[in-house]
Amino acid sequence: MDSNTENNPWRSARLVYTAIDTDDEPFLTVMRADASSFVNMNPAPPLPGSKKDITSEIEYFRDSCLLAVKICLQPAAPSPDEASPNPIPIGKITLTGLSPRTSHHRNSSIGISILNTYQGQGYGSEAIRWVLRWAFMYGNLHRIEIGAFAWNEGAWKLYERLGFVKEGVKREHFFSAGRYWDAVDLGMLEGEWRRLYGSEVEKVGGSGWQNGESSSSNSKA
Ligand SMILES: CC(C)(COP(=O)(O)OP(=O)(O)OC[C@H]1O[C@@H](n2cnc3c(N)ncnc32)[C@H](O)[C@@H]1OP(=O)(O)O)[C@@H](O)C(=O)NCCC(=O)NCCS
Repeated sequence: MDSNTENNPWRSARLVYTAIDTDDEPFLTVMRADASSFVNMNPAPPLPGSKKDITSEIEYFRDSCLLAVKICLQPAAPSPDEASPNPIPIGKITLTGLSPRTSHHRNSSIGISILNTYQGQGYGSEAIRWVLRWAFMYGNLHRIEIGAFAWNEGAWKLYERLGFVKEGVKREHFFSAGRYWDAVDLGMLEGEWRRLYGSEVEKVGGSGWQNGESSSSNSKA
């Protein structure tokens, strides 16, 4: 096992999670240009992104999120005479921030998007498992939510397979493509996560990050 990966809270089996900064504008612009992903994760009308939108997004990540990171492929280890290659960003994952007067509830919500060409390869599952571990083991959260538009059935069924419980459907909550759509709300409690992923928890302090996520490699949970 790569000793670099052991005990590293910013890595999982195949992925590394890096900060989102002002110099990430080009990457975020590429993400924003993926219209189908934008429509799948954003209740706003599908407006093409402006520079100001990207700047505001970076400010939101920095100022309002508990966690906001790029999901990156871990580069192959360089040979001794090569410079370390940079991780390749393929998506982003966020946890909403807790406001001062409601932080005692310990709730947060996941937002995730993977670049179109990298979808369907298990990276989303791996990143969600990673963020759940971060939330419960380091963020001291009690409950994590994730939502999806009803048309995005692949997404919310994936979340169910990862262990989220479908908690409700807001009927005709969103208007898009000429009609109203339901919104699907899912959640996972800390105790449920421990029951599902408990063997991984025991490894934290040892080599939990690597092992914990390896079960999601190439699997759909
Ligand atoms: C939803 C999403 C995060 C899942 O990540 P992923 O890396 O593609 O998912 P995984 O490879 O881990 O799992 C694949 C499963 O995701 C589901 N899925 C949902 N949307 C998908 C997409 N656009 N492409 C491929 N799989 C998708 C499928 O059910 C698939 O299961 P299957 O292979 O049995 O059909 C990702 O596809 C994505 O970013 N989509 C666009 C934005 C979006 O919908 N964000 C979520 C808003 S709630």
